[in-house]
Amino acid sequence: MRLSDKQFSKLVLVCTNEKPDGRPCCAQKASSELYHALKLAVAGMDPTIRVSKTGCLGNCESGATVAIMPKNVYLGEVRESDIPEILEMLK
Ligand code: FES
Repeated sequence: MRLSDKQFSKLVLVCTNEKPDGRPCCAQKASSELYHALKLAVAGMDPTIRVSKTGCLGNCESGATVAIMPKNVYLGEVRESDIPEILEMLK
């Protein structure tokens, strides 16, 4: 193991997990579309912020789920219309 040279000012994790058995999950709440839209919006604002897809964050009933690190903020029921507010949180 070694420390990576990569460093980001913030990390935004968008759950895109899909549960194939039909249980509630973020994939059912258009989280992939949210991820792509949020990634594009953040890249235009601050390239030091990383937006990544992630697996289940344990908030499946209230997806789409987004976590902002290192602020340790967890957001539920996130929709593309919430992106402007998320951008404000990232400033
Ligand atoms: S499927 Fe997204 S939080 Fe569990």
